[in-house]
Amino acid sequence: MKNAVITAVGHYFPDKVVPNSHFESYLDTTDEWIRTRTGIRERRYLEHGATSDMAVEAARMALDVRGLQPTDIDLLVVATVTPDMMFPHTACLTMDKLGAVNAWGYDVVSACSGFLFALTTVVNMVRAGGSRRALLIGADKMTSIVDMEDRNTCILFGDAAGAFLIEGEDDTDLGIRDYINYCDGSGAEFLNMPGGGSLHPATLETVKKGYHYIRQDGQAVFKVAVKGMADVSLEIMERNSLRSEDVAYLVPHQANLRIISATADRMGLPMDRVMVNIDRYGNTTAATIPTCISEYYQDGRLKKGDNLILAAFGAGFTWGASYIKWALD
Ligand code: UT7
Repeated sequence: MKNAVITAVGHYFPDKVVPNSHFESYLDTTDEWIRTRTGIRERRYLEHGATSDMAVEAARMALDVRGLQPTDIDLLVVATVTPDMMFPHTACLTMDKLGAVNAWGYDVVSACSGFLFALTTVVNMVRAGGSRRALLIGADKMTSIVDMEDRNTCILFGDAAGAFLIEGEDDTDLGIRDYINYCDGSGAEFLNMPGGGSLHPATLETVKKGYHYIRQDGQAVFKVAVKGMADVSLEIMERNSLRSEDVAYLVPHQANLRIISATADRMGLPMDRVMVNIDRYGNTTAATIPTCISEYYQDGRLKKGDNLILAAFGAGFTWGASYIKWALD
């Protein structure tokens, strides 16, 4: 079996910056409430185009980092809950726009855990020899499913895409070393988008009821997210005999700075060893983890051999963690 190694990373954020003051102008909210309850100062909105357009940009950046062409890719997977359309899948549309004519692929729909769940599928494809060079992209245009009149949710989300290039390598202990994933569908009622699927196909009635928007019981999700992210992070550390001093960075899903710092606390990690970009981009769902890693890599804050623990919690409920030994300088 080969090892699955991350050989390049890329990210894309749209240009339009939306500060918290934007919401103060039309909703009963304040910059102070948003900053202290969530850690968010601003987010980015994609004004034109769809999720695949952001996915293409993040993929191009990863290919440039490695000096490869789109034709070198044999598998392209997109994690997203905001596909361009119900079908064809966004991976297919992304391949076409990118010119990845030698690839096949699929979408993974697992909300905030989507990137880690998709990573698991790609890692096993690469380990088994089913792919030599895969692109894994987490991309979400959250503004397409957020009710901009709902102060409980609209302040939380932004648009972005991040990408990993993953290649099979022999004789190395670098790469994706381990993963643990969990699902509990009894949590579905607390975070979902009910409309547009086979349960509530789109009708005038479902649109009037706002079924095409995200619904979240924030407090209920908060409690289980804190426990879920911390438990699974500790579990993967223990299974790999990692002490907190062995971990270079925790890379948590960026839903709320308070969930992030509670997880870091339980792991015994100071905040300077936790990747954070929620302050500038909000919750970008499947894009939070790869965009964090790509930004830190571009800033020169990662070194070969660093142990990274990636952890996520989201709708489903779904949650998981992956352990990576970083391969790039
Ligand atoms: O990414 C996928 C997984 N999602 C998560 O992990 C999100 C988890 N949940 C959270 O991050 C937090 O629950 C939120 C940030 C969504 C909300 O923070 P909270 O501290 O749990 O607030 P809350 O929902 O308990 O609301 C407290 C108060 C309420 O008012 P009352 O009932 O106490 O009078 C809300 O109506 O804050 C009110 N509120 C707001 N006030 C000002 C809710 N949204 C706002 C707002 N501005 N934007």
